[in-house]
This record gives sequence, C-alpha cells and structure tokens, in this order.
Amino acid sequence: MKAIVIDSYGGPERMQLRELPDPRPSAGEVVIDVVCAGINPVDWKIRDGALRGYYDWPLPLVLGCDVAGRIAALGPGVAGFAPGDPVFACTFPVVPGSGAFAEKVAVPASAVAPMPKRLDFAAAAGVPLAALTVWQSFYDVAGLAAGDTVFVHAAAGGVGSFAVSIAKAAGAYVAGTVSAGNADYVRGLGADAVIDYRGQDVVAAARRLVPHGFNIVLAAAAGDALAQSLLIAKPGGIAVSITGEFDAASATAQGVRTAWVGMEANGRQLGLIAALIDAGKVAAPPTAVFPLAEAARALETSKTGRVRGKLVLRVR
Ligand SMILES: NC(=O)c1ccc[n+]([C@@H]2O[C@H](COP(=O)([O-])OP(=O)(O)OC[C@H]3O[C@@H](n4cnc5c(N)ncnc54)[C@H](OP(=O)(O)O)[C@@H]3O)[C@@H](O)[C@H]2O)c1
Repeated sequence: MKAIVIDSYGGPERMQLRELPDPRPSAGEVVIDVVCAGINPVDWKIRDGALRGYYDWPLPLVLGCDVAGRIAALGPGVAGFAPGDPVFACTFPVVPGSGAFAEKVAVPASAVAPMPKRLDFAAAAGVPLAALTVWQSFYDVAGLAAGDTVFVHAAAGGVGSFAVSIAKAAGAYVAGTVSAGNADYVRGLGADAVIDYRGQDVVAAARRLVPHGFNIVLAAAAGDALAQSLLIAKPGGIAVSITGEFDAASATAQGVRTAWVGMEANGRQLGLIAALIDAGKVAAPPTAVFPLAEAARALETSKTGRVRGKLVLRVR
C-alpha cells in the first residue's frame, strides 16, 4: 500500500509517499480501506517531533489520525462489522506507528463506528478527532446540559465548529471567538454571538453577553485564550483546555474549576455523534480536500492556524 511515512522528525520535507506492506488485523482490530483521511494539528505536531516524550512511537511512522473508509478485513474476535461496511474512526493514539495517511490502516474495533449516512467520505473523515475532543470536554468533563452558557475559543476551527454545533444541539446558549471573516460562518453553525478576538476586548465582550460568566469555557486556542477563559467562566463554572495549562493560582482566585482534556479514541461515542449528524442536529464542518500525495502541503496549511472547518486527504 501507499502511505505517508516519516523516518525522522522535522519539517514537511521529511514526509515521503512510500510503498509499505499492507497491515493485517490483530485480535480485536479491523483493517480499513481508507477513502479519506482527516487532518488535525496533532499531525504536524507529531511530524515536527513536538510530542516526543509524550508518545514514543517507533520510527518510521505513518502519519494520520482520522479515517473514513470501508472495512477490508476483521481480526479475530471482532463482531458487528462486515467487509465493505462504511466506517469512520480516530486512530490517535491507539495505533502506534500505523496512521491513516495510507491506503489501509489497522484500527482497534473499539475505536470504529458506522459512518453517518448523510455524510460522504470526505466530510466523515473530518469528524472523529475533533468531535470526540468536544464530546469528552463537554460531556465527560464539563457535564453539559440544556440551558448552559458555553463559550468557545477558536470557534471557526475543526474543534470549535463541533463545539458550537454540539453545544447548540444540547440546548445551550453559545458564544465564541472568531476573526471577522469567520463571523458569518460561526453564526451559521448556530452560535448566538461571536466576538472578533482581534478587534475587541474578548473578556469585556463576553461579560456584556453573560454578565455573571459562562458555565463552560472551551479553550481551543492557546495563548491569551487560556487566561481569558478564567475571567469568562463564572465562579463555580469550568474552563476546559485542550491546548495548554491554566494558571492554577488565577483559577483558584476566580473560583473557576479547570480541566485538561486529552482526546481518546472511542467508537461508542463516535456512534452517538454519528446519530446526531444523521438526525440533522450536529453539522459536519466544510472540508477542503487535498490528494494524498499533497499531504505535506495540507499539513503546512493546517499549521497556518487559519483553517475554517476541516482539511482532508483523498486517498482513493
Ligand atoms: N487535547 C486534545 O485532545 C486536542 C484535541 C484536538 C485539538 N487539540 C488542539 O486544539 C487546537 C485547536 O484544534 P483545531 O483542530 O480546532 O485546530 P484548527 O482547525 O487548525 O483551528 C484553526 C482555527 O483556529 C482559529 N484561531 C487561531 N488562533 C485563534 C485565537 N487566538 N483565537 C480564536 N481563534 C483562533 C482560526 O480562526 P481565525 O482564522 O478566525 O482566527 C481557525 O479557524 C490545536 O492546538 C490542537 O492541537 C487538542
């Protein structure tokens, strides 16, 4: 099979399109014929070597953490899937060294779910990692419920788009930060209000919207967003980071609970997300599609930090 491989950590020049042996499914795994692979910032963070020490995968490494495709083979002990089934999955961090930027990928069946019927493969490939991050932030950690007020930093990105959509589906009031050019896009996802983080005082604008502070703040941007989150959340509310650490002393002073979420692959939760998509309650963000051979260009596009929605590689 063809795959995007790195032999050493570094820039886009390290990414090679190479022939590798097809993966075979171990017990509890499925092999997926990849149709599209989703791109996430973690892909270039892995490639650059920024996650060394956290994840010590052996090199060479096949990049790619999100997949949509068809079941090609089942390993021993796998039930509930059949060859040809359209499925999607997050492969991070459950498949060391075997990534989705390839014609085939072996994935634990526990990370796989049937693909939403209303999505094509490109749109489905953009869902798993970003949507699971939001699901785990909002439901496993923050306890999202109808009537909550939710603030989303970086609302136009992959995670932010799902955060707005999933929070609205839950019956929350939702506001988030955007640059001016993405305001209409994020309002179109259902956001009740947007704040231009470049042109406005974000904390003051958030306080005008919800004077006593938001129940839940998701920091899907780093930098200023972390400190701002502690001032935007209400005392007793929760600020969830997926990007960096909050200042513990400031959090205590504000009376705001804090949490870090490191997304984990989860086929059961992905199935719940698929059901919301098929019910028309959660929207999959728009995708820009690159051919597999242009994976390096796609990752450099992701690294600009300016992507609206999702980037996807078409593999077949
Ligand atoms: N811990 C975890 O498990 C986990 C999981 C997923 C993602 N992450 C991390 O979370 C971050 C977001 O991921 P993603 O997939 O959503 O990335 P992304 O799709 O690349 O996000 C791009 C978006 O971020 C917006 N943005 C950039 N800087 C901003 C800022 N300072 N304030 C507000 N918006 C800003 C941009 O909007 P404008 O062009 O309008 O500025 C753009 O639409 C990344 O650092 C990623 O590595 C962590």
